[in-house]
Amino acid sequence: MSCRRAAHRGAVLHLTGDPAAGGSLEYFSEGALLVDDAGRVEMVGPANTVLAARGEEVAVVDHGDALIVPGLVDTHVHYPQGDIVAAYGTQLLDWLERYTFPAEGRFHDTATAAAAATFFLDELLRNGTTTALVFGTVHPQSVDAFFAASEARGLRMLCGKVMMDRHAPDTLLDTPESSYADSAALIERWHGRGRLLYAVTPRFAPTSSSRQLAAAGRLLAEHPGVRLQTHLSENRDECAWVARLFPDRLDYVDVYDHHGLLGAGSVFAHALHLDDREWRRLADTGSAVAFCPCSNLFIGSGLFDLAAADRHGVKVGLGTDVGGGDSFSLLRNVNEAYKVLQLRGQNLDPARALYLATLGGAKALGLDDVIGNFAPGKEADFIVLDPCATPAMANRAARCADMAELLFATLMLGDDRAVARTYAMGRCVHGRADGRPSG
Ligand code: GUN
Ligand code: ZN
Repeated sequence: MSCRRAAHRGAVLHLTGDPAAGGSLEYFSEGALLVDDAGRVEMVGPANTVLAARGEEVAVVDHGDALIVPGLVDTHVHYPQGDIVAAYGTQLLDWLERYTFPAEGRFHDTATAAAAATFFLDELLRNGTTTALVFGTVHPQSVDAFFAASEARGLRMLCGKVMMDRHAPDTLLDTPESSYADSAALIERWHGRGRLLYAVTPRFAPTSSSRQLAAAGRLLAEHPGVRLQTHLSENRDECAWVARLFPDRLDYVDVYDHHGLLGAGSVFAHALHLDDREWRRLADTGSAVAFCPCSNLFIGSGLFDLAAADRHGVKVGLGTDVGGGDSFSLLRNVNEAYKVLQLRGQNLDPARALYLATLGGAKALGLDDVIGNFAPGKEADFIVLDPCATPAMANRAARCADMAELLFATLMLGDDRAVARTYAMGRCVHGRADGRPSG
C-alpha cells in the first residue's frame, strides 16, 4: 500500500467555479479529503461519509480545526529575483536597470541558478504555493535548474527562458534566432515531462524586437499546449515607450496580438492601463491576466480593475511578481488585492478571494482540468491553513460566526506562519517547524 492513500480530516473548503459566474464556495466544517494511491483526489465531503466509504486500511491524518484548501496558484513570479525583493526607491524602468538586470546577470552560473531554484521552491511551499508560472532569465541553464528542482519535488510548475534582444545590458541579450533555438530545445527537453510545462517568455515589448516577438509567435504555433507569459501595461512610462517603439500598432495589446501571442494559455502580467478595445481583444482570444497587487503597490504601478476584467469576461489569476512584489505569500497578495479593490470602490468577498488564489489561477494557466479544486480525479495538491497561527489570528478566529468569516479572517491575516502543511500529489512537501496542527 502506498503511503499516499490517506483521508485528511479538517474543515475542507474549495470552489466549484467562479463565484462571479455561478460557482460557489463548497465547505465541510467537519470534513475529509480522501487521496488515492496515485496522489489524486478520490473523494471529498463530510468526514463521516468519507471515513465510512474509505475502507479499513486507509490512514487518517487529523488536522484538527485547520482549514484544508487547494494549493495556491501563483500566475506570475520571477525565481531569479529572490535576492532583490524590497529594493528601495524606484519605479519599473529604473528598477529594472538598477536592481533586476544585475541580479539576473548572475544566472549564467549554473550553481547560482540551482541554489536560487532551491531557495525559491522552499519559499513557495512554505507559503502554500504548489503551482507557479515562473520567469527564468535569458540563460537557458536557468530554466534547466528550475525544472530539475521542481521535478525532484514532484511539483506542477511552468517556466520559460526570457527572450530579450534589446534595451538591456549586452550580457543579458539574445537574438531572435538564438532565443528561438534555445526555447525550442527547452520545450523539447521539458514540456510535458511529468508535471512540467513550458512557457514561451518574451520579457515585454520594449526588450524584444518585432522579429523576436514573431519568433515567439512561431514557437507557440509550432508547439500546441506550450504557454506564453509576458508583461503588459504595467507602468505609464512603459506604455508610452511601447507606443513610440511600435507606432504602427493600435495599442499595447495589439503589439502582442500582431505577433500571434494572444490566446488561451497566454498570461499577461499586470494589465493596469488598458482601454476597452484591449480588454475585448484579451477576452475574445481567451487570454488571461495576472493581478499582482503587492508588486503594483510596491513599485507604484497602479490599481488593477477587476470589475473591467469581469465585465469583459477575461480570466484573472493572482501573481506575487517577486521581486517587484515584496512577498512570496499569496495570502499577503489576497490581502493587498482586497485593499486595491476597496480603493477602486470594488469588493472582494471571501469566496472570490479563495477562487482567485486557487481555481481562478488554475483556469488562467489552462490547468483547471488537473488542479485548483477537489473534484475527484484532480491532482491532490492542497494546504493546511491554521486559522489560529498568531495570537491576533486566534483572537479573531474565536469571534467568527461562520466558515465564510473564518476564511476571510484567515486570508486577510495569514502569511507563511498560517501554512501548517503543504501537500503535492498527496505527499507532504512542507511542514511547519512546530508541527501544529496535529497530524
Ligand atoms: N517588466 C519587464 N520586466 C519586468 C520584471 O522583471 N518585473 C516586473 N514587475 N515588470 C517587468
Ligand atoms: Zn513580473
